Amino acid sequence: MKDLVRLRTSLSEEIENILNEQVKMEGSSSSKYLAMASWCGEHGFEKSEAFFMTQSDEERKHMLKIFKYIADVGGKSISPEIGNINHEFNSLREVFETALEQEIGVTRSIHRIVEACRKANDYTTEQFIQWFIQEQIEEEYIARRIVELFDVIGEDTPGGLFMIDNAIAQVVYDTGAAAAE
Ligand SMILES: [Fe+2]
Ligand SMILES: [Fe+2]
Repeated sequence: MKDLVRLRTSLSEEIENILNEQVKMEGSSSSKYLAMASWCGEHGFEKSEAFFMTQSDEERKHMLKIFKYIADVGGKSISPEIGNINHEFNSLREVFETALEQEIGVTRSIHRIVEACRKANDYTTEQFIQWFIQEQIEEEYIARRIVELFDVIGEDTPGGLFMIDNAIAQVVYDTGAAAAE
């Protein structure tokens, strides 16, 4: 007797599970960024607060993108339980260093999905997940550039943190597409 539930989807159980774990990770990133927005707002870093509000929104979109994919290919997407969100930070630098670490962790996790897809010969999911690989280049780039601002501008110089907060709004990722034209 074949497993009828499995016949309704081309997704293997292993890939379904790993994708649901990613749904959770993106949802958790969204909540973590919201906590960072809260800390920044509380400490007067207006631009950083806005930055993390936008990031939180983006992570939720990432979560929904995977959530919908699982359902679209006949799998069961799981609405994640998210707990233990840290709201305590010692400095603005620590907030951004934590954000960078988080993005690096997400990149690793996305790469693990690609590995699993290759092992399972799941070319459909591998192609779907490509978008996230590109997205992570941008996410890591921006987080890394912002962390660098703390040294470039200098957080201990008078008005340094104010200047860093303002500079954050200007950090953008240039894909180089314009140069290639
Ligand atoms: Fe994400
Ligand atoms: Fe991200």
